[in-house]
Amino acid sequence: MSRILVTGGLGFIGTNLTLRLLKSGDEVVVIDNAYTSSLERISAFEEYDGFEFINQDVTTPFDELNVDGIYHLAAPASPIKYSRNPAYTVRTIVEGAFNALECARNNDCRILVASTSEIYGECEKHPQSETYNGNVCTMSTRACYDEAKRCAETVSFCYHETYGVNVVCPRIFNTYGPYMQLDDGRVMTSFISSLLKSEPLRIFGDGEQTRSFCYIDDLLDGLELVFSSSLKGKAINIGNDFEISINKLADIFEEICGRSFERIYEKRMDHEPMNRCPDLSLIRNTLGYRPRMNIRDGLTRMVEFYRRFDGSHSSHPNTERRKAYS
Ligand SMILES: NC(=O)c1ccc[n+]([C@@H]2O[C@H](COP(=O)([O-])OP(=O)(O)OC[C@H]3O[C@@H](n4cnc5c(N)ncnc54)[C@H](O)[C@@H]3O)[C@@H](O)[C@H]2O)c1
Repeated sequence: MSRILVTGGLGFIGTNLTLRLLKSGDEVVVIDNAYTSSLERISAFEEYDGFEFINQDVTTPFDELNVDGIYHLAAPASPIKYSRNPAYTVRTIVEGAFNALECARNNDCRILVASTSEIYGECEKHPQSETYNGNVCTMSTRACYDEAKRCAETVSFCYHETYGVNVVCPRIFNTYGPYMQLDDGRVMTSFISSLLKSEPLRIFGDGEQTRSFCYIDDLLDGLELVFSSSLKGKAINIGNDFEISINKLADIFEEICGRSFERIYEKRMDHEPMNRCPDLSLIRNTLGYRPRMNIRDGLTRMVEFYRRFDGSHSSHPNTERRKAYS
């Protein structure tokens, strides 16, 4: 049994990860200030003795904490939320990385600092491999997130170089599944909100842009593989390399729901990439990673999860875990 720190443990990925770790018998300390989630989410972990919660902003140091490993996830991750206060977004991601790395240094433990496919920006290379340096405009509205994440990677690699911190940075590509916030503006949750509220599907641009979507269970498998690997001072892609246009995704969504929707096409966000797909050669060849969930099955599971709440739950489902899995 290990004592693992999960920063951002009340968020989408953090909730799923924390539940997985608790179920496997680990103790989990979550640090979160509920900036993009809700304290009500704690109820999902209440039945586990090994759960501890610290209500704290990651921009405040937490290096005194005693832990055996760290998953540093805390950051506003959806464009709607990270654009609300761009300066705070940069501060959270960069200062948060310093504080998490200091905690790892003090404990001499493994740390995973969550990075993102957004560091590749408006890619000129497709699919994106770790050797591609990306194309991010510092003046775009997305830069507070993209550039801060690039900086957090650099800080991580500097801590590895300078202090020998045992750090790895997974570059996470679009992930979906239960416990996403329905108001986060991402395509999967936006479609599900449309279903629950009987509203049209909102699609940005002409819908021909492509994305690759990774189901949360596959992502967690990848994160655990990377965490337990010997990779240090490096970035590594994790995702699913099946690429699909947003229009095609909407078709599949309609088939799963058994009904059609009106589609409203809106202006694309500035500097939003046209295509996004991971080159998974590194993680495949070095760690044997294979995402298993296909888009139709994953989306079906997600729709079922949210349908169980009959549309009455807010964007911060609290007792959903009990409802969904009871
Ligand atoms: N979900 C994805 O598809 C995706 C893709 C790429 C990278 N990532 C990365 O994975 C991580 C988790 O993403 P997510 O989708 O779960 O996001 P999320 O917004 O659902 O969760 C983030 C959590 O961090 C907390 N948080 C934010 N700022 C904080 C602060 N200053 N102090 C303490 N806690 C704070 C939030 O309250 C929330 O609980 C992020 O680092 C994100 O950049 C996610």
